[in-house]
Amino acid sequence: MSDIEIKRGLKDVYFATSEASFIDGNIGKLLYRGYNIDDMARNSTFEETVYLLLFGKLPTAKELLDFDAQLRANRTLPREVLQVIEIVQASHPMDVLRTGCSALGCLEPESATRDQHQVADRLLAAFPSMLLYWYQFHAGGKRIETETDDPSMAAHFLHLLSGKPADEMRIRALDASFILYAEHEFNASTFAARITASTLADFYSAITSGIGTLRGPLHGGANEEAMALIERFQTPDEAEAGLMDMLARKQLVMGFGHRVYKNYDPRARIIKQVADQVFEVTGKDPMLNIALELERIALEDDYFVKRRLYPNVDFYSGIMYEAMGFKPEMFTVLFAIPRTAGWLAQWQEMLTDPEQKIARPRQVWIGHDTRPFVPIEQRGTGVVTR
Ligand code: SDX
Repeated sequence: MSDIEIKRGLKDVYFATSEASFIDGNIGKLLYRGYNIDDMARNSTFEETVYLLLFGKLPTAKELLDFDAQLRANRTLPREVLQVIEIVQASHPMDVLRTGCSALGCLEPESATRDQHQVADRLLAAFPSMLLYWYQFHAGGKRIETETDDPSMAAHFLHLLSGKPADEMRIRALDASFILYAEHEFNASTFAARITASTLADFYSAITSGIGTLRGPLHGGANEEAMALIERFQTPDEAEAGLMDMLARKQLVMGFGHRVYKNYDPRARIIKQVADQVFEVTGKDPMLNIALELERIALEDDYFVKRRLYPNVDFYSGIMYEAMGFKPEMFTVLFAIPRTAGWLAQWQEMLTDPEQKIARPRQVWIGHDTRPFVPIEQRGTGVVTR
């Protein structure tokens, strides 16, 4: 066996430089271009955060006004994209987003007259329209008008979801979750988008790579899975017994652990505070007691403490989304849509990095050594079952 060390999951492998975000996993710190995630979640809007990630600075009032207007102007969808979305019947919303991204890429490809910034704004603004057009068409056969004059993406999303303008509490809560999910260094889906960009493939291909990668339950799909975990238990005692049984069976507890955070994920702390504000209006969700019990166990039980496994952002986001009226299958797209900003920012860095090269790692070969070819008539009559 080769003495080459394989870095499984590329753990602790440094692939490129970036200025978009910084994580100190030991102390649970996250900065967006130097600004603390707590400050961003408390004081800014998602559109301000996107501007910061894409342009490297917080916008002036005029810049933000223009940027908001640019995004609002991109909410309608071509008829052909709507027809594609109508065809994709009982898909998962993440598959709808992936399909809509590809369809839009066929109709509005990057070109001499449509540069990356325009495509970036287009996708950011069009994703909520794609998703909610599909949702309303397949839930109730309605063909909704996706263009609204809602001032923000969160307000637009909630308006299309319910068919009427949303209240300030829900808009603020969704906007805060979009800020928290916007960017996170070289996580698997951002890395996938960068790998695609490293071949100089087009922008839609890079974003489609990101969407497909985020879909997995170990990554963006975890918020939907964490909700399913919490819903399994009726009482805190049941939760404790169930969790111990899961660990005994070596099952993963969704919503816990992180490759980089070996301390509390700062986003989990913030989303929990935002969830408490939601519960003040919607009423305390009985599942919150189950979640708090699971968290208590994780913070005390030796299995978690020894491995430094803390609740991550996906553990609490699901309970909040559920209290706001979202169905669990919508949770991951509520992660993917804001993460498009991070994919965009990192994609742009990839293209402008003079040191960047096409991604092409190596393998450790464990197959056959050289062997002579065998003509088919000499291969016998056996059938290998797959
Ligand atoms: C996101 O990378 C990012 O930044 C991602 C993200 C972002 O914003 O983009 O933060 C979003 O994806 C958050 C993570 C969401 N996923 C989950 O909640 C799924 C459950 N978590 C695990 O699958 C896991 O913790 C990962 C995938 C998040 C991290 O996996 P690692 O770094 O490969 O950890 P590991 O497998 O090396 O774990 C070390 C030990 C192992 O046990 P031992 O072999 O030492 O005995 O911890 C155990 C693991 O079995 N472990 C868990 C566990 N996570 C790790 N055991 C039970 N439940 C878990 N959730």
